[in-house]
Amino acid sequence: MEKKRQFFTTPIYYVNAKPHLGHAYTSIAADVATRFKQMDGHDTYFLTGTDEHGDKIVQAAQKEKTSPKAYADKISQLFKDLLPLLHIQNNHFIRTTDPDHIKVVEAILTKIHDSGDIYFSSYEGIYCFGCERFYQERELVDGKCPDHGVAPQAIKESNYFFKMSKYQDWLIDHIKTHPDFIRPDQYKNELLSFLKEPLEDLCISRPKSRLTWGITLPFDQEYVTYVWFDALVNYISALGYPDGALYQNFWPTSRHFVAKDIIKPHGIYWPIMLKAAGLDIYDGLNVHGFWNVKGSKMSKSIGNVTDPVEVTREFGPDPFRYFLMREMVFGLDANFTEDAIVSRINSDLANDLGNLFSRVLSMNHRYFNGRVAGADAALDQQYSLESDGAKAIDGFKEAMAICEFHKGLISIWTFISTMNKYIDTQEPWSLAKDESKNSALATVLYNLMEGLRVISCLIYPVMPATSLKMQKALCLDIPNKGFFGLDQIFPWSQIQKGTCLGAPEILFPRIDTKNQAEKTLVKKEKPFKPPLKEEIGLDDFLKIDLRAGIILSAERIQDANKLLKLMVDIGAQTRQVIAGIGKDYPPEDLVGKQVIVVANLKEAQIMGETSQGMILVGSHKKQMILTGFDKDLFPGNQVK
Ligand code: ME8
Ligand code: MG
Repeated sequence: MEKKRQFFTTPIYYVNAKPHLGHAYTSIAADVATRFKQMDGHDTYFLTGTDEHGDKIVQAAQKEKTSPKAYADKISQLFKDLLPLLHIQNNHFIRTTDPDHIKVVEAILTKIHDSGDIYFSSYEGIYCFGCERFYQERELVDGKCPDHGVAPQAIKESNYFFKMSKYQDWLIDHIKTHPDFIRPDQYKNELLSFLKEPLEDLCISRPKSRLTWGITLPFDQEYVTYVWFDALVNYISALGYPDGALYQNFWPTSRHFVAKDIIKPHGIYWPIMLKAAGLDIYDGLNVHGFWNVKGSKMSKSIGNVTDPVEVTREFGPDPFRYFLMREMVFGLDANFTEDAIVSRINSDLANDLGNLFSRVLSMNHRYFNGRVAGADAALDQQYSLESDGAKAIDGFKEAMAICEFHKGLISIWTFISTMNKYIDTQEPWSLAKDESKNSALATVLYNLMEGLRVISCLIYPVMPATSLKMQKALCLDIPNKGFFGLDQIFPWSQIQKGTCLGAPEILFPRIDTKNQAEKTLVKKEKPFKPPLKEEIGLDDFLKIDLRAGIILSAERIQDANKLLKLMVDIGAQTRQVIAGIGKDYPPEDLVGKQVIVVANLKEAQIMGETSQGMILVGSHKKQMILTGFDKDLFPGNQVK
């Protein structure tokens, strides 16, 4: 039987600024969809990359006083480096400056030119440099470009045009006869209503007198091609069009993920380009809405962007992915606030899933020494969670297949909440008090573990690392590829009696909302960064003896509101350290905290008190932030 296949793409992002949360969202959504298709038995191919030609990039490079290529190299690398950080598994990363891509763009231009669908003409119109395209008066808002808020400039020049109008009726028919071509429906309707007006032909060239950073037209050396004509072709050049096996196998199954800002190039230019070049039309377009900040689109031009690297550092990739997929209804806009992410993590992840997991495993350790006792067949009917598990799988499958990621997650979380309620009503701790209820206790715990097994499989596309962690703790025999296929989750009762379970780890630490309030991930202004100090040699640096310490006690020093007197255990000794962190940390919060101590600093007198060392802190504005360790260390351990 022919293997099921699926090709997913993200937009290739402009390299005029580093990635923000909006870019991360599309890439994560496409990764989640890809992983889901893999669970559903598909061979997948997942493409992302960067769009590097055009005015925007030239201008950004000029600002940095560097060449467009050098600038593109630098920013493209940031987009590339973001992928593993977000647990995104792409098969290829394309850049429009790749020589192979350029060849394919030339080939497609030649094909369409030869077929007579490209003509030369002089044109007078209004042009937005931000959008790099001509506008119609009727498209403007108060005489300004709706995206950039500036009035377009009048331009007159001779250019090459692509006869899009010729294909208008064909396109309308294609959209109407392929109900899945554009999803969700609201965007299909938007395009169809746009197509009620006659289509203008598309200007696909820029004279080199105005722009040289682009792909030269194969039929006229004086022009480069319009950046969109170049960019869209990435979806086939990356597959090795025309002869590559990837192109043969995957192109017929192609679905593009985009946000609504670029629905026109994807829903109109691209299918018409493919049609004019005599190629198969892509299979479909999945369109999502915008992440907004206080009601306006998060965008590099406004500058209200959130850095996905910072969010990931702060909360971890899996919680970030969960938040993005759960909070946005695919197709609609969503609002980004830090409160929203913290509250999702604390309630859905730490509370609902995390607690369930650690409760069930701890009870198994407490009552059965961590060995699975197995269900009692006679009691199974009474205690079974099987049909709730089956319902969760069905709801998940149905929603994920049409990119309703939030619904897929709701289906899992409904089951999680059923399981939490089940614990509260079955009260395993009461069963444990009564010897005669031992098999009931074993059956209840067995069903809970089976429920966790199902959940661990279902969260895989959204939270792959957590899925693995749970499966390891449940000692499941994880298939080669690292996930369970949809058809491997059932039957119920797969966990073997006698299995030795792992420790009840904390999957998601709770976020301390008190400290969180001080931080902000939405950029408002550039943070003040003092200039770097003079260089020192390694020898000088190695003179500093840094040690791990634990704060044993902390008290305020009278008349000095910022200063605290700390007693710090550094292994061999306990040191008294005077630290200026009293404004940011109440003394009672400090006891038990791990800190980094400068251990060989000469004793000093501060406000009449002896200080035997220093602790390291980060500072943001005037706020002091303690530095610590990722994992526990012993007092006295060296820091190097
Ligand atoms: O348009 N909310 O690149 P681009 C959600 N190079 N998604 C967002 C977003 C937001 N606030 N901001 C950006 C281009 N995105 C072209 C594409 S494809 C052949 C060429 C995401 O850097 C979303 O996917 O402006 C959007 O469509 C894309 O980034 C635009 O990225
Ligand atoms: Mg954009």
